[in-house]
Amino acid sequence: MRLTRLTRSPASLASPAAPADRETAADQDAKPIREAKPITADTVADALRTARQRSLTYTDIAAEDLLRQHSPLMSPLVWDLAHVGNYEDLWLVRALAGGTGTRPGLDDIYDAFRHSRASRSRLALLGPAETRAYLHEVRGRTLDLLDRFGPDRFGPMAGAGAETAAVPERERLLADGFVYGMVVQHEHMHDETMLATHQLRQGPPVLAPGAAPPPGRRVPRPEVLVPGGEFTLGTSIHPWAFDNEDPAHRVHLPAFWIDTLPVSNRAQIAFIDAGGYDDERLWSAAGWEWRQTEGLSAPAFWWREGGTWLRRRFGRVEPVPLDEPVQHVCWYEAEAHARWAGRRLPTEAEWEKAAAYDPVTGRSRRYPWGDTDPTPERANLGNWTSGPAPLGAYPAGASPCGAEQMIGDVWEWTASGFTPYPGFVSYPYREYSEVFFPKAGRESSFRVLRGGSWATDAVAVRATFRNWDYPIRRQIFAGFRLARDAG
Ligand SMILES: [Fe+2]
Repeated sequence: MRLTRLTRSPASLASPAAPADRETAADQDAKPIREAKPITADTVADALRTARQRSLTYTDIAAEDLLRQHSPLMSPLVWDLAHVGNYEDLWLVRALAGGTGTRPGLDDIYDAFRHSRASRSRLALLGPAETRAYLHEVRGRTLDLLDRFGPDRFGPMAGAGAETAAVPERERLLADGFVYGMVVQHEHMHDETMLATHQLRQGPPVLAPGAAPPPGRRVPRPEVLVPGGEFTLGTSIHPWAFDNEDPAHRVHLPAFWIDTLPVSNRAQIAFIDAGGYDDERLWSAAGWEWRQTEGLSAPAFWWREGGTWLRRRFGRVEPVPLDEPVQHVCWYEAEAHARWAGRRLPTEAEWEKAAAYDPVTGRSRRYPWGDTDPTPERANLGNWTSGPAPLGAYPAGASPCGAEQMIGDVWEWTASGFTPYPGFVSYPYREYSEVFFPKAGRESSFRVLRGGSWATDAVAVRATFRNWDYPIRRQIFAGFRLARDAG
């Protein structure tokens, strides 16, 4: 589905990638990551348990709510729940131990590529109780396998690519616990998807509200300068990175300015008040067409009563907090807002450089603050708050250039289409990334999002993580940040 042709290409604002220099690039992000966190059978079991706890919490609701199609954009919640079990059965139980696994007859129903989300409620889905029993059975087998095929028994695998051709498939999947990381991250992605379904669901709240986020603050500078020069984009050695983050390669970018914080609700209201939704000149041709078709006039789930903007979040109505990152805007809205502000969206390379590049060491960090794992003081992740935190709430999460809240709070739309890095090799299956890349010579139908949201788990995001979606999507927890050329 090809939805847009841009009237101008924001991607052209960045320099093209320099020829890949795998050794240099990989060396630069190697050691500290390896030393950051040993991956053991215990850490894997913990990660599996955490993901499952989320899945069960978001589906601990009435059976009719689990089975209902809340939106044609989303699967019934009970489909997502059984699908994560089926994926675990495929990639852990069957890929590691062989055999037919647990109820292989379910593979067709829970194959995301065989049935559209809108059609899944018409499939012969397992009921809620049956689904939970299925997940429990698969998980029991997985935990048994952890004794035989735990990551402790398979050390880090040097390098990637050609060297791995000689490694038996099972050992390659197990190196650094990769396949466990893939299954854990997959479940967390569906947990976030389930939250988007909950947001689209009508009716009184069924999820408990989150904890209060830390207070916001005024940041010292509204925008920060990222000097021109080379940096390492992507990673070749992060143990749980996906194929689309690989290979690490050197990219040269001219200097640019990027906002310290994501765009606020206050700024989006200023865009509305300035007539931004009604000014065709601010929109790309495809964006304007979509705005007209859908009657877009504010972020999704917003409406105005008297002089006050209200929003509905998980069944609760509240005033729109002004100093919070805007979310539930599509890429076209972000693009129009940027043009109105005399700015542009950063490319994904610019985003990653602003988030991770440390000019002192000359290497890219795993997270903006360094290589250590996210903590509640550094980033709003894992649905602790049920929404974005106020702007300025995470000074401890600042990147070397001074940008804040790049990880967590809201996914950030970038100017870039979703394309493979030079030297990309699909692994372990084409349907994770490769089938979403454009055919040679074609423009991507997707736009890349970076940084994760408040609904993303810490294990499922890092500075190199790439998400993608159609430029029309608004149910995801996405906002944006503005940038401009320097000089
Ligand atoms: Fe999936």
